[in-house]
Amino acid sequence: MQTKTIYILAIESSCDDTSAAVLCNDEVLSNVVATQKIHKEYGGVVPELASRAHQQNIVPVVHQALAKANIDKKQLSAIAFTRGPGLMGSLLVGTSFAKSLALGLNIPLIEVNHMQAHLLAHFIADKDNTKPTFPFIGLTISGGHTQIVLVKDYFKMEVLGQTLDDAVGEAFDKSAKILGLPYPGGPLIDKYASDGNAKKYEFPIPKVGELDFSFSGLKTNILYFIQKEVKKDSEFITDNLEDICASIQYTIVKILLLKLKNAIKQTGIKQIAIGGGVSANSGIRKALKDKEKTNQWQTYIPKFEYCTDNAAMIGIVGYLKYQEELFSKQDITANARYRI
Ligand code: KG4
Ligand code: ZN
Repeated sequence: MQTKTIYILAIESSCDDTSAAVLCNDEVLSNVVATQKIHKEYGGVVPELASRAHQQNIVPVVHQALAKANIDKKQLSAIAFTRGPGLMGSLLVGTSFAKSLALGLNIPLIEVNHMQAHLLAHFIADKDNTKPTFPFIGLTISGGHTQIVLVKDYFKMEVLGQTLDDAVGEAFDKSAKILGLPYPGGPLIDKYASDGNAKKYEFPIPKVGELDFSFSGLKTNILYFIQKEVKKDSEFITDNLEDICASIQYTIVKILLLKLKNAIKQTGIKQIAIGGGVSANSGIRKALKDKEKTNQWQTYIPKFEYCTDNAAMIGIVGYLKYQEELFSKQDITANARYRI
């Protein structure tokens, strides 16, 4: 075990958030996130615009992270960066920046798998939270991924099930688009759902493998339902927005819980840790807390700032890898389809 103080600068640029964080060992000193607003105009992330915005943001974001942490770059022990998965053009910006800075400072470079990082975010030092112990079941729910993962150790993970089509974040965002809400619609569905009746409209639960997910049928079902109702009453969405959102969220949460139940049955492991943008959803957070009370599941839910894409989660993986001297060479390249 290392005893010296380790300072990691972490860079995240896999999708549409440019983020940099500084960690002192497992403690976050700063975590700066620049969310790119430009994509709102297009109703979704435009890869080319994302990589251009990363290029503009990366230097100021890194400067801000260092300044907030009150750390000079000469004090850094290593640079950690997101290698993938994600959008290639976006990943290239963070990867090139991290490689150049590590080379310039002559310090180790550490590559990080973004999906592993969503799950290992639970190991960030936090006096209010307990950490999961191995093995545990990880549920990664984001705009790009939906996976049930058996986490045997920090870097020994096995995907037990995943989505066959859309990710759960996409299901939220696409449903929101059908309702005329701006991108990303997930947080808005969550907001309106809080005042709605979740049992008002019923949507079918997709029939796929025990640990797999499918959300494209649900999206189509919601689309047809809305089109049918709007034909009868043009004010249908406006008059029932809260109930529609609550019913959509209820269905999605029900699917996630069903799959977790199956995973617990198959593995006998009752510790559940969630990660990814959709873990910010109040429906899933509440449902998991309720399950903890009634089913003796132990549930681990990240703080809001570590749910959506952020560099602090990349930094904690950097710290864990630093201790094992899992360093990368300068010839490393971004990997858009990097598996867990
Ligand atoms: O992990 P993330 O920031 O980026 C990806 O790696 O995809 O996840 C973004 C996704 C988006 O689909 C967004 O709508 C969803 O997370 N999201 C939410 C909430 N906050 C973010 N979905 C539902 N409820 C929320 N409160
Ligand atoms: Zn993510």
